[in-house]
Amino acid sequence: MVSCLSTVLADSPWYHGHMNYTLMHKKLPVLELEIAEDIAAILAVGEVFAPEHIPVGIEMDGERPVRSSLNRWWMGRAIPASRSGLRDALQLMDVSSTGLLLLKCFGLSLSDQYWVDSHAKPLDWDKINFFENEFSEDVGNALFGRPLQSGEVNLISPDNTSDGWLRKKWVIDKGRRLLVKGGSEPAYQEPLNEVLASSILQRLGVPHAQYELAWDGDRPLSVCEDFIDTSTELVSAWHVYKTAKKSNNHSDYTHYLRCCEELGISGVRDGLDRMIALDYLIVNSDRHFNNFGVIREAESLVWLGPAPIFDSGTSMWHNQFSYRINPLMDAPSKPFNTKHSAQVRHITNFDWLDFSALQGIEDEYAALLEQSPFIDDARRDVLCSALVQRRAMLEAIAARRR
Ligand SMILES: Nc1ncnc2c1ncn2[C@@H]1O[C@H](COP(=O)(O)OP(=O)(O)O)[C@@H](O)[C@H]1O
Ligand SMILES: [Mg+2]
Repeated sequence: MVSCLSTVLADSPWYHGHMNYTLMHKKLPVLELEIAEDIAAILAVGEVFAPEHIPVGIEMDGERPVRSSLNRWWMGRAIPASRSGLRDALQLMDVSSTGLLLLKCFGLSLSDQYWVDSHAKPLDWDKINFFENEFSEDVGNALFGRPLQSGEVNLISPDNTSDGWLRKKWVIDKGRRLLVKGGSEPAYQEPLNEVLASSILQRLGVPHAQYELAWDGDRPLSVCEDFIDTSTELVSAWHVYKTAKKSNNHSDYTHYLRCCEELGISGVRDGLDRMIALDYLIVNSDRHFNNFGVIREAESLVWLGPAPIFDSGTSMWHNQFSYRINPLMDAPSKPFNTKHSAQVRHITNFDWLDFSALQGIEDEYAALLEQSPFIDDARRDVLCSALVQRRAMLEAIAARRR
């Protein structure tokens, strides 16, 4: 009740609040905030120091961000409520909400450079950022349902700001930050699909996150290296999409391209051609606006172009019974159209797509699938011949369009 009341108060013109945090972009103060520490919500926005560094896609009122929009962005950094195994993990760690975890790590992440600095106990970015400082695996282990070592649980982790539904954790291996991701029942196919997508993109020379296979007992995992470092950041397509109001006569595709153009991001159309082609080929069903994006330099705010392709695991009928797999049947797609047959029409140029480079990809996929105890021989064979058919279908589309 108190928090509801403060939220109502925060939007009233005479509420000035008590600023207790500064939103930081690396070492640069962006604006002052009042955060209710019990619920981790932003109650008010104070002085704005660096308007151009306000996160991309926040609704603005002149040079000031709209509090509710900034709060959505902030709360959106927390682990989503839909994360597999979340309830058990929170119980293991004895933490009541994902918002509290978010505040525990000051909102720091391994995908961008934003964080909040508390006025009561100011911190030094150099000493706390996860790119250059070690972090505990306690939260990651809890998210994977592993019992925690006795003693104090260390909750300062980049896992507190990781998005997505699948179980995942960040680890450090020889100084490299790696994202380890699980799959979902019953086939645990997503990690295998990530490796397949990497191989396809590797063969085609398309920038991508390279996923390798690992194991948690008999369950497959995918592992990829952080493609962000201390100087860059990932901005999701969703936040880019929110930088302008969509006109009714524009499709989502046109609107996204116009937003990128307006921001001065180049290479986006070519990047989308490649992503849409991949998704058609492997029948990805979940390429929503948070599963692709663009990269910029955090200090100069210079746009570097589309992010490497990541998160392609929700594909190859991963959640379908084997007998229902039919590569010829149209399938649901995202984000621009609801069917792959329609979405593939957005591809403007096929010249880059060398089908001969994909020869034998099905054998590679078979070798991957064979390693998993959750994929039987029948499923493996159906999936591999489906992949061959999808390649033929895409090739036919490209031939008509060239
Ligand atoms: N290699 C990476 N480097 C930096 N950030 C990443 C990387 N892979 C994923 N992310 C970030 O983590 C989020 C969750 O990862 P994702 O692979 O999309 O998981 P899920 O399959 O559960 O959706 C992504 O939306 C992105 O913001
Ligand atoms: Mg995702």
